[in-house]
Order: sequence, then structure tokens, then C-alpha cells
Amino acid sequence: MTIDTPKTELLGTILLVDDDSINLTVFGQCLMSDYSVLAATSGPRALEIAHATPQPDLILLDIMMPGMDGYEVMNKLKESPQTRDIPVIFVTALTSDLDESRGFELGAVDYIYKPCNLATLSARVGTQIELKKARDRLRDQNSFLEADLQRRLRENQLIQLELLENEKLAAIGQLAAGIAHEINNPLGFIYSNFNTLQNYNREIFELLDAYECYVGETDNLPELLEKIQRLKVEKELDFLRRDMKELLLECRDGLTRVRDIIQNLRQFADGNDSEWQLTDINNALEVTLGIFAHGMNGALKIHKDFADIPPIQCLPARLNQVFLSLLVNASQAIETAGDIFVRTGHDQQQIWVEITDTGHGIAPEHLPHVFEPFFSTHPLGKSIGLGLSTSQSIVGAHHGKIEVSSTPNQGTTFTVRLPVRQETGNQAV
Ligand SMILES: Nc1ncnc2c1ncn2[C@@H]1O[C@H](COP(=O)(O)OP(=O)(O)OP(=O)(O)O)[C@@H](O)[C@H]1O
Ligand SMILES: [Mg+2]
Repeated sequence: MTIDTPKTELLGTILLVDDDSINLTVFGQCLMSDYSVLAATSGPRALEIAHATPQPDLILLDIMMPGMDGYEVMNKLKESPQTRDIPVIFVTALTSDLDESRGFELGAVDYIYKPCNLATLSARVGTQIELKKARDRLRDQNSFLEADLQRRLRENQLIQLELLENEKLAAIGQLAAGIAHEINNPLGFIYSNFNTLQNYNREIFELLDAYECYVGETDNLPELLEKIQRLKVEKELDFLRRDMKELLLECRDGLTRVRDIIQNLRQFADGNDSEWQLTDINNALEVTLGIFAHGMNGALKIHKDFADIPPIQCLPARLNQVFLSLLVNASQAIETAGDIFVRTGHDQQQIWVEITDTGHGIAPEHLPHVFEPFFSTHPLGKSIGLGLSTSQSIVGAHHGKIEVSSTPNQGTTFTVRLPVRQETGNQAV
């Protein structure tokens, strides 16, 4: 049943539930000037209307009804996710404290006794409708804020990824000049050897042409052999033979060096950054040290002390990035000449990589800040101060830890600890 209401500026929809149609009419007339009023004379019908659209903003529910009583209707309303948030006021002739407290226990927002003063009814309905509207507004704002938060989180993740990528390129970039030099050096002597070999090649073919010519000119064998012997001496054939062998060996050596550098670079960046793989960290360190050594000046001495550590499940390209950042930092801390020690070790739970340098160390007041994004003591424009914060996020995604200890003017040690087994699901970095 719907009680007709004027359609202007209604404050909400109210469902009246009562088996007595006189009550429905009296309450309906009291409320219809301000609300759209729906009515039901039984519990099942009330539930039907509560699930239909438009949903009531408030239900006034009688308790004593034949068949399904108000308590049961209330229980069913609370069971259904669609209707559990609709506020319910019990309107009843039951006046005992026990009934009232049972009603509140079931989730009623108010309790009104019949017969009731209509002005009181209207005021209490008004209060509940206001509260409901405020709750709805809050819920809408919350879902808007939640959606906004999710969007910002996604944006942050993208920025983080971009920074991670930039930091990797920056670390390689710092080594790029050295790597280019390392490639250029062998290429330089291969190129020069190649020119010499081209000359030798020409000489040998000239020698062969001369042999052919002599054979056509004379059939006097001793004379022929003597001419050939003279030519061999003139063309320094023995020297050519020795030197060609040496030049070819040198070329081969240079090409192997270029191939190794390129292989190291490829392994360092190894394909998919987000692919978890069972990895030998000693091996990953060798690859990274390979890249690092190509790019650094000769005044640095690297000392390796690798224990026999078990392979771990990790993102190798990301960890290589961490090791390279730590090595670059170590080399930047060494002003002229110095040493970098790279050690590995393990126990039952974890493996660790320790990178120690004999550089200038970190001032005690800087130590608590080194992992903060954009903290850098290097001149503006030279570094952005993301190496350690990026490394910390990468190690964190591996459920590991990165620690630092430093003594000014003596050196610094960074220790990366990584679990042997990844207990929980692998995170993206
Ligand atoms: N091995 C080290 N010895 C001395 N100081 C260090 C060492 N490693 C890091 N630091 C200090 O910590 C700061 C932060 O290091 P981080 O790698 O995050 O940034 P950065 O090297 O300044 O810049 P970026 O790595 O982005 O090029 C450095 O500027 C430096 O002051
Ligand atoms: Mg750095």
C-alpha cells in the first residue's frame, strides 16, 4: 500500500509497518507532508518493500503482528546486506523495559510507545532521517576519498617505478664513461692490428704472385729456388708469420674483452625486472662487479671473499641494482686510492652481502638520514640521493634488511640481509 503524498521537497522515504490500518493511516497522515510514505500490513510485505527501489530511509515497525512479528522482521532486515543499514524505530504497545531493551539489542535506533503523541513521533522520525542522511553523506564521502586514495596510490606506484628505473639508469650512467673507455680500448688496437694485417695480407699475395711469375719465366729449378729464397727474405716472411700470429691473438683477446663487457651488461639488466628467480647471489655479485670494474678507475682495489651461500628466490636484476648502487657509493667515498671489500655469508635463515670501503665515512649527524629519499651530500646536479632509498625498497620487497655502520675517515660498511626462503607471497618492486 502507498499513501499518496504531495511531491514537493520531500525529506525522505518512510516505511510504516503495522497490521492495524488505522495506525497506518494516522501515522501516514502525520508524516506525508514531509516524507514519501510507504506502508505494509505484514512482516513479509515489509521485507519485500525494504528490498525494492526506492529503498526506505527509515522503517517504523510494529512488534506485535500476526505471522511474522516485528522482532523477526528486524532480524531478517539485519541479515540482508541490502537492508541492514536502514534505521528501524519500533512503534509498539509493549511497554516493558525488557521489550524495549530487546528492541535495542536487535539494532533498533529508537523505541516509541503506542498510542503516541504525533508531534513526538514526527520529531523523532525527523532526527533519525537527519542522522541517516548524514551517515549517507559520510559514506559517499568515504567512498569518494577511498577511490581518490586508491588513485593516488596507483599514481605513487607509477612514480616509484619511474624513479626506480631512473636510478638504475643513473647508476649505469655514472659508469658509462668508464665502460665506453673499456670497450674503446680493445676496439682501438683491434682496428690498428686490422690495418697491419691488411698490409701483411697484401704482401703475402704479392709473394704468391711473384712465385707464379718466376715459375712461368724459367724451368731452371736451382735458379727458381734461389729467386724465391731472396724474395722471402726481402718480404720478411718469417717476421710476417710470427707477427700475424701475435696480432691475431691480440685481436681475439680484445674481442673477448668486448664480448665479456656486453655479456655482463646484459646479465646485469637481465630481461624481466619483475621475474622472481632462484639465484646464486655470488654469481650476481660477480656480474655486478664486472660492470663496476669496467667503469671505475684503476686506483680502486676490489677484494672478494665469497662464502658458499645457498641460492635464494629473488629479483636478480633489482638486487644487481642495489649492489651497484652500494659499490658506486663506496667508490665515490674514496677520494684517491682505496679498497672495497665484498664479502658474503649465511646462516640457516639468511644470506648477507657486506660491502666495506676505506673511504671518508659518513658523519654521525648524516647517518640517520642516508636512507631518506633525496638525501645526498654530493653537489647538486651530480646525484639525486635516491640510491640508498631505492635500494632499501628493493631489499624490503625481498623481506630483507639493509644496515649501515661507518667511522669517519676510516670507512663504511653496508650489509644487505636477505631471507634464504621467501615465507610470504612475492611482492612487486
Ligand atoms: N659508502 C659510503 N661512504 C660515505 N658516504 C656514503 C656512502 N654511501 C652513502 N653515503 C652517503 O649517503 C648519501 C645518500 O646516498 P645515496 O646513494 O642514497 O644518494 P647519492 O649517492 O647521493 O645519489 P644517487 O645514488 O642518487 O646518485 C650520499 O650522498 C652520501 O653522503
Ligand atoms: Mg648513490
